[in-house]
Amino acid sequence: MQVLVLGAGYVGMATGVTLAYLGHDVVLVDIKPERVAAIAAAQSPILEPGMDAMLGEVRASGRLSATTEAGPAVAAADVVFIAVNTPPDASGDANMTFVQAAAVSLGQHLDPTHPVVIVNKSTVPIGSANLVKSWVEDGLHSTHPGTPANGTFTVASNPEFLREGQALSDSLYPSRIVLGTDVPWAMERLQALYAPLIAQSFPAPASVPRPAGFLAPVPVAATDRVSAELVKYASNAFLATKISFANEIAAICERVGADVTQVMAAVGQDPRIGSQFLDAGVGWGGSCFGKDLSALMHTAREYGLEPVLAAAAVEVNRRQRRWLVQRLQATLKTLKGRRVAVLGLTFKPGTDDLRDSPAETVLADLTRLGARVVAHDPVATEAAAQAWSYPVEYVNHVDDAIAGSEAVLLVTAWPEYAALDWVRAHESMERSLVLDGRNLWSPDVLRPLGIEYYSVGR
Ligand code: UDX
Repeated sequence: MQVLVLGAGYVGMATGVTLAYLGHDVVLVDIKPERVAAIAAAQSPILEPGMDAMLGEVRASGRLSATTEAGPAVAAADVVFIAVNTPPDASGDANMTFVQAAAVSLGQHLDPTHPVVIVNKSTVPIGSANLVKSWVEDGLHSTHPGTPANGTFTVASNPEFLREGQALSDSLYPSRIVLGTDVPWAMERLQALYAPLIAQSFPAPASVPRPAGFLAPVPVAATDRVSAELVKYASNAFLATKISFANEIAAICERVGADVTQVMAAVGQDPRIGSQFLDAGVGWGGSCFGKDLSALMHTAREYGLEPVLAAAAVEVNRRQRRWLVQRLQATLKTLKGRRVAVLGLTFKPGTDDLRDSPAETVLADLTRLGARVVAHDPVATEAAAQAWSYPVEYVNHVDDAIAGSEAVLLVTAWPEYAALDWVRAHESMERSLVLDGRNLWSPDVLRPLGIEYYSVGR
């Protein structure tokens, strides 16, 4: 099929490269010329495992091209994905400006004789499919006055569930595909588009192997549009709630003297609960969970419904982000003038993304309380220095953060931190206090060395 993907960010790149790999002809569109030039040169504008290799392959096969001008490709497209960004605005609502611009421009370039399925792939507020329909119609009527929308295009919802750092794997080997439309020909076309993915009939790319035991066919949830839109929010709200639940249990563990890792491991063995996403720590972050929860709560409140459970998940997370600094204050009392090492700045390991990272809360609190903060991250120190304005010293080697500090605070569980030499680190510290915000290290290793060690809920 002829596929057009608007927006070459995480979602657009993963979608476009995956569909081209499956054999479709894909045109990626982005308003940033440097992104388009990079894609044309087979260099991915985003950092994702396997992306450069797969992009190289689909570029070489001629099945993927990139442009800043959607116009000419619109009329030929069978399916158009809108995958532009929807950043949260001041009220926490998704900003739909880019979606609107994309939809109007699509409408202007439609060929009324060639019906197309327009798919919302960006995470958009509930009910957005209707909005997109009206915007495409505005564009269509500006170039083809009086042309009925029905028969020219239809808008469907097909949310993505990509994790950063595993975007291609999640895209090629999804847990389910959600197709939201009430229009039979659109449903048929989307089923056909995804047929090789559903059947897993493609050879796995060398750079993104099929997970052991991955079963075909991939389940397809055929729903109405609004339900598909809500699946995305409900999924992320549930995942965030799972983590917040583990964090609340961790807080109780600390009071009663239990070990949250042992508790949640056994809790998760119940198949009704499941063992994933029960790791206690200093809370969740990233570009999706906070944004999607606030959008879901916003929608509920528009209807006079107080989303108590979602609000509690957010509140537990807010409290959890203070765990490190509160533990530090409880031990060191005043933080003024104390040298504190913060390890990890990204919202999780394996990404360079700083959006809504718990590390920002930690840096903000520490600097406000007068500590001298030295921060390290394997990939994001420069970006953090740019993005955040706290008086923090950023260092490129973890030893330089630890040496001379009175406390080490772990925010992000990068694998290289798991392998730290604690004998050496201990000797270089001014005072050996270690606060492990991700339960990465073992008390049995650190305490015998004479290190004062605290972790979350253990
Ligand atoms: C998430 C969803 O997983 C994905 O399905 C959706 O499409 C986008 O949002 P991502 O933002 O990449 O993906 O992050 P994810 O890997 O889910 O981690 C989210 C946060 O939760 C991270 O800050 C992580 O450190 C934290 N986390 C995760 C925990 O604190 N405990 C856990 O047990 C799991």
